[in-house]
Amino acid sequence: MIGAERFRTHTCVDAADASGETVRVAGWVHRRRDHGGVLFIDLRDRSGILQLVIHPDAGTVLEIAQRLSPEDVISAVGTLVARSAETVNPRIPTGGVELRVTGLQVLAEAAPLPFSVEDEHTQAGEELRLTYRYLDLRRAPLLRALELRGQVVRAIRGVLEAEGFLEVETPMLTRSTPEGARDFLVPSRLQQGAFYALPQSPQLFKQLLMVGGIERYYQVVRCFRDEDLRADRQPEFTQIDIEASFIEPADIQHLVEAILVAAWDQADIRLATPFPRMGYAEAVRRFGSDRPDLRFGCEIHDWSQAAGSSGLGVFGGVVGAGGVVRAVVFPGAGVGLSRKDLDGLVVEAQELGAKGLVWAVPGEAGALRASVKAEFLAGLADAVGAGPGDLIAIVADTEPAAQHVLGAVRVRWADRFGLIPDGVWAPLWVVDFPLVEWNADQGRWDALHHPFTAPRPEDEDGLQSNPGEVLAQAYDVVMNGLELGGGSIRINRTDLQERVFSVIGLDADQAQERFGFLLRALDLGAPPHGGVALGLDRLVMQLAGERSIRDVIAFPKTATGSDPLTGAPAGVDAPQLRELGIRSTVSPAEGQRA
Ligand code: AMO
Repeated sequence: MIGAERFRTHTCVDAADASGETVRVAGWVHRRRDHGGVLFIDLRDRSGILQLVIHPDAGTVLEIAQRLSPEDVISAVGTLVARSAETVNPRIPTGGVELRVTGLQVLAEAAPLPFSVEDEHTQAGEELRLTYRYLDLRRAPLLRALELRGQVVRAIRGVLEAEGFLEVETPMLTRSTPEGARDFLVPSRLQQGAFYALPQSPQLFKQLLMVGGIERYYQVVRCFRDEDLRADRQPEFTQIDIEASFIEPADIQHLVEAILVAAWDQADIRLATPFPRMGYAEAVRRFGSDRPDLRFGCEIHDWSQAAGSSGLGVFGGVVGAGGVVRAVVFPGAGVGLSRKDLDGLVVEAQELGAKGLVWAVPGEAGALRASVKAEFLAGLADAVGAGPGDLIAIVADTEPAAQHVLGAVRVRWADRFGLIPDGVWAPLWVVDFPLVEWNADQGRWDALHHPFTAPRPEDEDGLQSNPGEVLAQAYDVVMNGLELGGGSIRINRTDLQERVFSVIGLDADQAQERFGFLLRALDLGAPPHGGVALGLDRLVMQLAGERSIRDVIAFPKTATGSDPLTGAPAGVDAPQLRELGIRSTVSPAEGQRA
């Protein structure tokens, strides 16, 4: 073992194998108990916990031990002995032994703690935990998550290295890479008034590496996106970023499957390959989402035709105006729901974006309990395959709005009503994405992935005439409803890249100004290439069974993008700003209030 014998000869867990020997261990005082003069200390290091025993006749050792506080750092030497049968603790790996201490040294004292780290679960709030993240990291769940993260990265590197991928670093101080978020900007001192952007991803550099002949690139890389934060989003996060030349989408998909198999293997889970594939249009139609959770059914049914002539004004109006009426059935979920529960569900659907929601619960013999008169829903239960006790959620709206709301409701309520089975892994490739989507607010087409994604060759001709119908050579990998990664074949011809820029509203001058370097590179022998990026934080979050990526990141940011530990982001001194040629119009305090 690496380390000085002055502090320890064994880790806590390794010491357990040294029965009868003299060993020295070091770590933190996890717990201290006084059993009628005999002192027990649970000593904790990264490997685990070892029980130390100090008998009443231990003299100065006992005196030192009596003064110990939780989380003091100590080194103890003694003889490792078997515990008596009645004191064996089968729950921990060292539970059959203890260290009879003959020497004890305090290496560092700990002041009273802001929160206890003794138990796996803590009552401490997130702000407090993040302020003292180094204490929080001493808790077992966080250590386990970081260990898993380390193992997963090692396994993924193994797969990529075996396939001949070369790890290459790309710049952090660069120009904007459009991935759909805002950039973090870094002012330049040497060129006042000019800014670097932190990369939203290494997208353009990995393409330039392909033009540079690297052929197979990967990087475990930090990406920066200034976007609204959610449980699965951080302003800085890590990608497993991959690019290769002379490949087809299937090559990248096989590689990603091998990577995910290796990653899941770290948690002793065997994933079956190949993963199923589903077109984007089908995913949205059946599940209301481009990242459908296939662990459960509750598919979306179309009931527009019948609804249009049901006699219910709102249905008729929506269908008459070209909208749709769609429904999702939650098996058994209607049993025992009170009127208040059901009204609460309607409010929840509205929070998810619904203008309104009609609910219905079939009873025995054709009876129907519903939020509108049952006669308006005649034939509904049969049409959507609902039986007694099932809950039917019905939304009437434009097609995209209805799909979106029911997609969100489907996931939320399946979880609420316990319809999502445990221990099931449902990976999926979503393919055949549209190249661009209409941005109604801005009145223009936006790239659905990023503007370097290649259209299908057979769709190229429709780029100008019918951009909304053009499909991209893009693919997303989804696991249990979470988008783990996405990628595509890239455009490797200047003319095509210029045409795609023009579809998304970049004229030739703007394209030159922002992406001239890429267009030039594409003109100088760019091989066919493509790649993918996997979100490492999300992947580890899923494997660790956590609900937030904050729980698998050593030093994450809060929902407002701040780090309570260091106080970042923070104001800077006036001279520092002057050097950068910057004058701030708000003080940090004002900024926080805004
Ligand atoms: P994309 O934008 O889909 O693709 O990102 C790839 C994956 O990164 C993860 N991810 C995030 N994780 C945590 N916090 C965030 N804010 C965040 N944003 C994204 C997701 C996502 O699937 N350059 C392209 C890839 C390519 O085309 O090769 C890209 O970045 O898991």
